[in-house]
Amino acid sequence: MGVRDVLKRIVVGAVVFAAVSIIAEAKTKVTSQPFGKLPDGTPVEIYTLSDGAFEARIATYGGVVVSLMAPDRNGKTADVVLGFDDLDGYVANFNGSADAYFGALIGRYANRIARGSFTLDGHKYSLPLNNGPNTLHGGPHGFNNVVWKAKSIADGVELSYLSKDGEAGYPGNLTATVRYTLVKGDLRIEYSATTDKNTVVNLTNHSYFNLAGQGDILNHQLALHASRFTPVDAGLIPTGELKSVESTPFDFRKAAAVGSRINTDDAQLHLGRGYDHNWVLDSGGGKLAEAAELYDPSSGRLLKVLTDQPGIQFYSGNFLDGTIKGKSGKPDVLHAALCLETQHFPDSPNHPDFPSTELKPGQHYRTVTVYSFSTR
Ligand code: GAL
Repeated sequence: MGVRDVLKRIVVGAVVFAAVSIIAEAKTKVTSQPFGKLPDGTPVEIYTLSDGAFEARIATYGGVVVSLMAPDRNGKTADVVLGFDDLDGYVANFNGSADAYFGALIGRYANRIARGSFTLDGHKYSLPLNNGPNTLHGGPHGFNNVVWKAKSIADGVELSYLSKDGEAGYPGNLTATVRYTLVKGDLRIEYSATTDKNTVVNLTNHSYFNLAGQGDILNHQLALHASRFTPVDAGLIPTGELKSVESTPFDFRKAAAVGSRINTDDAQLHLGRGYDHNWVLDSGGGKLAEAAELYDPSSGRLLKVLTDQPGIQFYSGNFLDGTIKGKSGKPDVLHAALCLETQHFPDSPNHPDFPSTELKPGQHYRTVTVYSFSTR
């Protein structure tokens, strides 16, 4: 055997050793299986991440968190997210007029962009509209509606997607990577992206949580670590004001039942048909900090949301009206679940005063959100 072959063997041995050590360190079991095909024949996989009583299932279509099993205070598990039993349910909903974005990754720009338009470096970009006069969650063909490339990683799955220059109206080839890991009740989501042209980016996950796994979320206790929120106009576009939550039904600095003030005669609640607003996190973003706590007294399940983003959209499931038939064909009724979408503020590209969502070539967009489950 020549020197070259010996070296080759050493390198191969080292790589195998490194891979085995990574797998040996990871305790979470990660498996994948087919989840069906899109109407055009594209195959979709589903990854199962299981660690003890916790289990998350993630589809390569939309990076959807299809199910999330978590134990209650007696150790009994339930699925705490809304969704559908099969791929067809997601494809039909995400391509229909009542897209609920159940569990999906949202991009290139989560939340609304007013009139689907923004100016960057003096150039005006126009996006397809899908929410009255505005663009919502990346437009009609957003990151929820594409198949991501996937590979197993320690404790989870890594998804990646190339959003081409001009796709859905946004400038620049954007390479996005999302890593989902599940360790001891912590569903950690690491988002990263790079671009080859100046662009805007705001990624999130749109899971609908119901910690009881049934009924509605009006008795869930919510705390939001935010002293201000961004009031909206009739199209749910921020007016630009950062308003104090003091003496308003938007004050969740101390935990309160979601339903305790939801029917207050308040102009902002009327506009949102309930809560559908962005809170300005006191942490200011930039470092991982607790943003929200959600607690279900009936099951004892507790969800802490940690993020390094400056905002969080608390949406109380106001557009659910029973027309969507979810898992087991059960209608998803008003307030059946709620979303806590970590994010930059809505419509930031049109608000120079808001924290910037611009990404330039050479920069690396990196952000982390953790949905941490336990019981009390
Ligand atoms: C939320 C948004 C709501 C609604 C929902 C999907 O993120 O804030 O207004 O569009 O998604 O039905």
